[in-house]
Amino acid sequence: MTKRVLILPGDGIGPEIVAEAVKLLDALAGDGLDIELDEGLIGGSAYDAAGSPLPEATLAMAGEADAILLGAVGGPKWEPLDIAVRPEKGLLGLRSELGLFSNLRPAILYPQLASASSLRAEIVAGLDLMIVRELTGGIYFGQPRGVRTLDDGQRQGFNTLVYSENEIVRIVRSACDIAMKRGKRLCSVDKANVLECTELWREVASGVVADEYPEIELSHIYVDNAAMQLIKWPKQFDVIVTTNMFGDILSDAAAMLTGSIGMLPSASLNETGQGMYEPIHGSAPDIAGKGVANPLATILSVSMMLRYSLDEPDIADRVDAAVNAVLDQGLRTPDILSDGMTEVDCEAMGDAVVAAL
Ligand code: IPM
Ligand code: MG
Repeated sequence: MTKRVLILPGDGIGPEIVAEAVKLLDALAGDGLDIELDEGLIGGSAYDAAGSPLPEATLAMAGEADAILLGAVGGPKWEPLDIAVRPEKGLLGLRSELGLFSNLRPAILYPQLASASSLRAEIVAGLDLMIVRELTGGIYFGQPRGVRTLDDGQRQGFNTLVYSENEIVRIVRSACDIAMKRGKRLCSVDKANVLECTELWREVASGVVADEYPEIELSHIYVDNAAMQLIKWPKQFDVIVTTNMFGDILSDAAAMLTGSIGMLPSASLNETGQGMYEPIHGSAPDIAGKGVANPLATILSVSMMLRYSLDEPDIADRVDAAVNAVLDQGLRTPDILSDGMTEVDCEAMGDAVVAAL
């Protein structure tokens, strides 16, 4: 059956990097992959064109799609807007409307890029960890929220951290399913010494693992310690599961261990297996339109899409191998450039991956 893929280029470097991923999808379609591509608006460009960062038409197409490929949203142009219509709301709205609660953020160090990491090679060599971030709850979505005026006339900002048991259970299960296919070690990150909400998180996580995944070795650490351990000895981790905001922060730190945030894909899945795939880097307005962005995180997001939503693990392996091949050839966009390598632009990198495929 033909699978439908919705392409949402978004803002900043989004359109450039997504164009290279579409080139790859077209090549795969020409080679027998049964997919149909649609394109929609999201983020600041959607606000400019349609008055909303998440137009109804986009939401409708997203609901019909088997998988969504998203570039990036946001940029200084839209910062003055009210928070309710800022580009980020388009992304958050899509996550929430589609129930994409399980966000997989792998941090893998490609041996060819070991010298790009800010940590010594022995600390990061062979790094392969997976952060599973809860994506549709917690402080990002908790009510009440806002800015209110107190009796003394000063303003007070407030947000709410909430997790119900079933939200914790499903994200921990999702992380356990992944851990079972890897090293069977799961580390749950919380702040249970201070926040009641995450004290519950810890208790529920322990219960899920004890009752349903007896083979998994579960550990719990506080988020401040997790940040420290990630920098100190990242290879101690196999799978990390954590809340929406802690996962946001820790996944950026983990990304940097690998040398370039320009290499890392992500998947956001709901209970039906529908998924949204995006590079974890942002819209990089400073280099947008210059053609120098690294398309590999987006191309690797296509690989995750093939694996998790399109049920094509063999083709996913071919995409991964093609990325490895271009790195072996010494091709580098500026963000991962090092001595003796060949600098290429976004388009040339995309072409090289298609050729290697
Ligand atoms: C991410 C981003 C988003 C987030 C922003 C753009 C809303 O930082 O995907 O990590 O905070 O979730
Ligand atoms: Mg982030």
